[in-house]
Amino acid sequence: MCGIFAYTGDKNAQPILLDGLQSLEYRGYDSAGIFLPGSPLVKTPGAVTELRSRIAFSSDAKSGISHLRWATHGEPNEVNAHPHASQNGEVYVAHNGIIENYRELKERLIKNGHTFRSETDTEVLAHMIEVEIHQGKTFENAVVDTLRQVRGTYGLLVSYTKEPNTIITARMGSPVVLGLGAGENFVASDASPILRHTKQVVFLSDGDMAILTPTSHRVRTLSENEIKRPAQTIDWNVEEASKGGYPHFMLKEIHEAPEVLENAIRGRLIQKEGRAKLGGIEAVSAELADLDRLLITACGTAYYAGLLGEYLIEDLGGIPVEVELASEFRYRKPIIRKGTAVLAVSQSGETLDTLEAIREGKRRGALTLGVVNTVGSTIARETDAGVYNHAGPEIGVASTKAFISQVAVLSLVALFLGRSRSLSEDDGRKIVEALKKLPELSRKVLALSDSIKQIALKYKDARDFLFIGRRYSYPVALEGALKLKEVSYVHAEGYGAGEMKHGPLAMIDTKFPTLAIVPQDSVYEKTLSNMIEIQARKGPLIAIATEGDERVKEIAQDVIYIPTTIEQLTPVLSGIVVQLFAYHFAAEKGLNVDRPRNLAKSVTVE
Ligand code: F6R
Repeated sequence: MCGIFAYTGDKNAQPILLDGLQSLEYRGYDSAGIFLPGSPLVKTPGAVTELRSRIAFSSDAKSGISHLRWATHGEPNEVNAHPHASQNGEVYVAHNGIIENYRELKERLIKNGHTFRSETDTEVLAHMIEVEIHQGKTFENAVVDTLRQVRGTYGLLVSYTKEPNTIITARMGSPVVLGLGAGENFVASDASPILRHTKQVVFLSDGDMAILTPTSHRVRTLSENEIKRPAQTIDWNVEEASKGGYPHFMLKEIHEAPEVLENAIRGRLIQKEGRAKLGGIEAVSAELADLDRLLITACGTAYYAGLLGEYLIEDLGGIPVEVELASEFRYRKPIIRKGTAVLAVSQSGETLDTLEAIREGKRRGALTLGVVNTVGSTIARETDAGVYNHAGPEIGVASTKAFISQVAVLSLVALFLGRSRSLSEDDGRKIVEALKKLPELSRKVLALSDSIKQIALKYKDARDFLFIGRRYSYPVALEGALKLKEVSYVHAEGYGAGEMKHGPLAMIDTKFPTLAIVPQDSVYEKTLSNMIEIQARKGPLIAIATEGDERVKEIAQDVIYIPTTIEQLTPVLSGIVVQLFAYHFAAEKGLNVDRPRNLAKSVTVE
């Protein structure tokens, strides 16, 4: 989920590209780079300010490609920043996405005498395109034939020094927008850097490729030479464009769930063997084979994902797991013996308490692991091994897509550990199949956004909310309550449904609504009877239930139906519902859901 921006036209490209990159910077990046034909490639850690200060020439190039990187493979440093050059420096590539089969492609190139400058998956593309050109192909055909060999996702920009006015772009899984001007054309990962130049845009679809010169653009696929993609006029302002047309980043990021799930599982599932392949923790397989206790530590939403990790890893992996708030863990005297690992869950990879908890684990001799979204972050660097989320930057302060991704990745970790222990191949295969269906099922849940909004509006005057669930739905109840309170400032509590009689039931009256997460799972009947206890006290009830469940309608006033998946993965779907509920509830009140009061995105202080 990096930012790409390219220009070809009759003006000086350098200021246009730098200003364009600046308007993509809202996403928060770790490195930047620019290629202007005729000038040296410039790349730097940091962002556009650093990039500007590194440019020691004045270029009169009328085209160029540029990139802001959110690291996926390789540390965020100068060599790994994009664009990447080919062996002979004739082809330059900037890329948003992941090339899954880059290792085999790279090995082949190395055997043929290529040397690589970076650790990225992207660099292979520049080398391959140049090889194809040297075999006598046109620039366009060289890109086509390279992409035919590639597996993975891309929003791609390619520049060729011998045809400096042509920019080639391609899309598979990562957004690409063309901007059509008079005597000039643009390409970007979202419309925000284009809008100050033109309102005429073409949104590419997966599988599309486009060839642009200052006065022409042609869209094609890898098999068809030309396809029609009509231009649209957009009247978003720059801020709306950066949100992809959504009113808030939070809503945009909730809607990224299908893509986030695809990114979490891509290349990590071996269907035939019912296994997960997690390159990041394979290096410590010997220690993992001896693992007899896992301590998961995290804060806030990541902690609730960690609770789900506990259920998943105990369920599938058969390993005892404890989960602890990082802010508690670091000040206790945790008992760590041989065979104990400490696993941190963190979107930012910079949360101070989580980092200190990992350091405490390390001091006490534990193997340290991470489930982290931000590549190269401190937690990612300081843990012995880990699995990245690849969820892309999260801008909304309230974590949404990161939670969905964390649950998916923790289920992969559970599958990985389970299959090297007692989980059968058959059971493993069921998990793999269910994981593969999740992106599609999440799309169905997102389609409920409007009906969830209507339900949220019915309860707009409530000052208190209870969220309840059992087993896999219990951490979702906790997360639902956290989400609601942080974006709407309304009091909400999450409870294990079985705890109602032990206290919370006393609060229930006609003005105290409860949102019950009650999928048809192993504890369905139990949760239903807890709901009946609330119904008997005249408490309003909203239910998140499994499609086709008629019984729940007799108990709850409002029911939100989610599709069926295996019990262990239900939190991914019910998690999206509680996020949408909190979002609509708060957004209707006109609150700044992207920046709730008193909160920061990354908590790097105690
Ligand atoms: C809640 C939220 C926070 C974070 C917590 C941990 O919506 O965003 O509770 O989950 O601050 O942050 P990371 O995951 O960056 O360690």
